[in-house]
Amino acid sequence: MAVSTTARPTSDDVMALLRGVIDPELGSDIVDLGMAKSASVDDEGVVTVTVALTTAGCPLRAQIQKDVRSRVGSAPGVTKVDIRWTEMTQDEKASAMAKARRNAAERAPETEIPATTRVVTIASGKGGVGKSSVTVNLAVALAAQGFTVGVMDADIGGFSVPRMLGLGGRLAGMEGEKKIVPHEKQVGQGLLKVVSMRFLVDEEDSAVMWRGFMLNRAVQHFVEDVRWGAMDYLLIDMPPGTGDVQMGLARMLPRAEMLIVTTPAVGAQKVAARAADMARKTYLRIAGVIENMSSFTCEHGGDYALFGSGGGAALAHDIGSPLLGQIPIEPAVSAGGDTGIPVTLGDGNGPAAEAFRTIARRIVEEAIPPVDMAGCSARLLDNVEAALGPK
Ligand SMILES: Nc1ncnc2c1ncn2[C@@H]1O[C@H](COP(=O)(O)OP(=O)(O)O)[C@@H](O)[C@H]1O
Ligand SMILES: [Mg+2]
Repeated sequence: MAVSTTARPTSDDVMALLRGVIDPELGSDIVDLGMAKSASVDDEGVVTVTVALTTAGCPLRAQIQKDVRSRVGSAPGVTKVDIRWTEMTQDEKASAMAKARRNAAERAPETEIPATTRVVTIASGKGGVGKSSVTVNLAVALAAQGFTVGVMDADIGGFSVPRMLGLGGRLAGMEGEKKIVPHEKQVGQGLLKVVSMRFLVDEEDSAVMWRGFMLNRAVQHFVEDVRWGAMDYLLIDMPPGTGDVQMGLARMLPRAEMLIVTTPAVGAQKVAARAADMARKTYLRIAGVIENMSSFTCEHGGDYALFGSGGGAALAHDIGSPLLGQIPIEPAVSAGGDTGIPVTLGDGNGPAAEAFRTIARRIVEEAIPPVDMAGCSARLLDNVEAALGPK
């Protein structure tokens, strides 16, 4: 559902949104590859997008369709998304393939964030709402399901991810390269790969007086110079607000999706406005809302809405995104953050741990499913190469 008071996007806006749709096969966005041929928006907010596929039977068609619908459909003012499918001409295929090869060559394969990784930023209108706690616990809950999950601590000046995961020590650089190898932590069958500024400075409390430009350079470093390797998800713990880092990351990773963390206080209109503003400026999709610090259950079983109630649902309604879950206030969450053992680790099954696990399942099953590459990747490239004939 769209916010009715907001103006409709222009066709240029729609094309910018389509830059968030990646052809996982070719590793570039569909605008760059020339697959998004045109976009128009009528007076009713109906968007028509024409997408040319490399082959009519492209096995990724369903994925691209879903991504186009969710990207464009969640923009304010859009009432419906119609997709017209066409097939590329031989010339268009040739230039798309050349482009894909050029892009692939430009990226050092070991350091890139793989095209098949789902990138998720954890954001909020303000600090102290639990972004870092949510990032860390969702990462652990996803890894416990067997996924490989990257965690990028983009809160450069206020890093708390390393402490919350019990990780310290400097990151190793690769001999002779300026590449960073993330800290790894095994969780069940899954794996965490963690990068934070904490691993690059000497003291946890050494005042890191990073400002605009420097902050951005640090985050760019994390995107470009980290040997991330294979990853199903990359969770990015964002600094509070809508600043340079948010804009920079959106530019570097236009395919990222946002999760908004909020508190139950219904003074949430302001948060809603900020979140919607951030989504509009960055062209990122808000994949869901998470309400943290919901009710507190005392030892006698009484429920107390310490920070109000209904804020998550109200925000979700206002921005037209699903409320993925509510995490209660539980001393174990902050204690886990201090000891470096998140509540979701092991078989702790208090209400907060359960809430995090439920949200992780909803992310995998509905909100941001992992990219399923099974059995089509190599085949499509082969088909395209074959269709192009010998070089
Ligand atoms: N559900 C919760 N129950 C209890 N304490 C929480 C909960 N969520 C966060 N906290 C605590 O609140 C403080 C702020 O959380 P944090 O994750 O650092 O927020 P942010 O990253 O948004 O600044 C931390 O001390 C954290 O341990
Ligand atoms: Mg934080």
